Amino acid sequence: EKGAFPHFMLKEIYEQPETLANAMRGRLDSDNATAHFGGLNLGAQQLRQIDRVVMTACGTSYHAALVGEYLFEEFARVPVEVEYASELRYRNPPMDRNTVVLALTQSGETADTLAALRESKRMGHTTLAICNAVGSSIARETDGGVYLHAGPEIGVASTKAFTSQVAVLAMLALYLGRTRHLSSTQGQRIIAELQALPDVIRKTLECHDQVKRVAAKYADAKNVLYLGRQYLYPVALEGALKLKEISYIHAEGYPAAEMKHGPIALVDESTPSVFLVPRGNVFDKVMSNMQEIKARGGPVIAIASPGDHEVAAVADDVIEIPDVPEYLQPIVTAIPLQLLAYEIALLCGCDVDKPRNLAKSVTVE
Ligand code: F6R
Repeated sequence: EKGAFPHFMLKEIYEQPETLANAMRGRLDSDNATAHFGGLNLGAQQLRQIDRVVMTACGTSYHAALVGEYLFEEFARVPVEVEYASELRYRNPPMDRNTVVLALTQSGETADTLAALRESKRMGHTTLAICNAVGSSIARETDGGVYLHAGPEIGVASTKAFTSQVAVLAMLALYLGRTRHLSSTQGQRIIAELQALPDVIRKTLECHDQVKRVAAKYADAKNVLYLGRQYLYPVALEGALKLKEISYIHAEGYPAAEMKHGPIALVDESTPSVFLVPRGNVFDKVMSNMQEIKARGGPVIAIASPGDHEVAAVADDVIEIPDVPEYLQPIVTAIPLQLLAYEIALLCGCDVDKPRNLAKSVTVE
């Protein structure tokens, strides 16, 4: 039930400190600096032989998979390909026996994802799933998998499932990495950072008031751009999807530097850009992308590190989030974008829990 919250979506956004703790409970092993999963059903030998992972999903789960690509690359040095399930299904890409197909799905019932998975199985590949709904079709049909333990997600717009998917992907990347080159010191550092995450998310939720002010200012926009780089490029896509689906405002996510190759033509005084620009490796680069937008008269909303004066000097509005290592920024920056979509949808008078034309699980291909 919704309890004190007016909508399931808001309740589920606020549940994220707990759902993330649930995703990690019993799975982090500090002694061995690794993670454990009860249901992967992969032997040590088979695990070491994995030389490629094909991740497949739809919608928000697809965006989580895109973050997974960066995570697996950084921690495990395993090549990853991410494909929409509806495309993979009819593509027949060359894959050898050491390729594992990993499906991501909140509901475990998405027809496109299920079809892609069945096709992969038919071709003899090992299939795994990261899934929330216990006992769902996809959970039953894969060779092994990891549950999110996020509890039922009722709001049609996926929120807590996304952050838990990313957390599970980080743990899987750690686990795979530790069978390869990742040192125990690195593993221990990652574990400590993951363990701190629920508290960090509690702190992140304090940005809600800033988000409300921003929402009030931009709720009449017809188009919104979401921009980020590296780990935050998939989050830009996810932020745009959230806004589209519940407020019916057109939004696009882009890798920030790609703007100058065409989409920057869309920028004018009535087209705000949401920049994901916390401190990190590509900070300076994203800053200069932000200046390019400002120079063309586009309003800039920045999701940034606490007290970042450099950002504040350029952006029209700033929403502050706690600093975390880059690989955890997708989880932290997703929170203000979920809240922003929610607040704008409310101001537009939309039914946030049941947006038009959408169903919680899409059981047609
Ligand atoms: C977006 C959303 C959808 C789902 C997609 C996949 O907020 O909810 O895009 O993410 O339909 O659903 P699952 O994860 O259940 O396979």
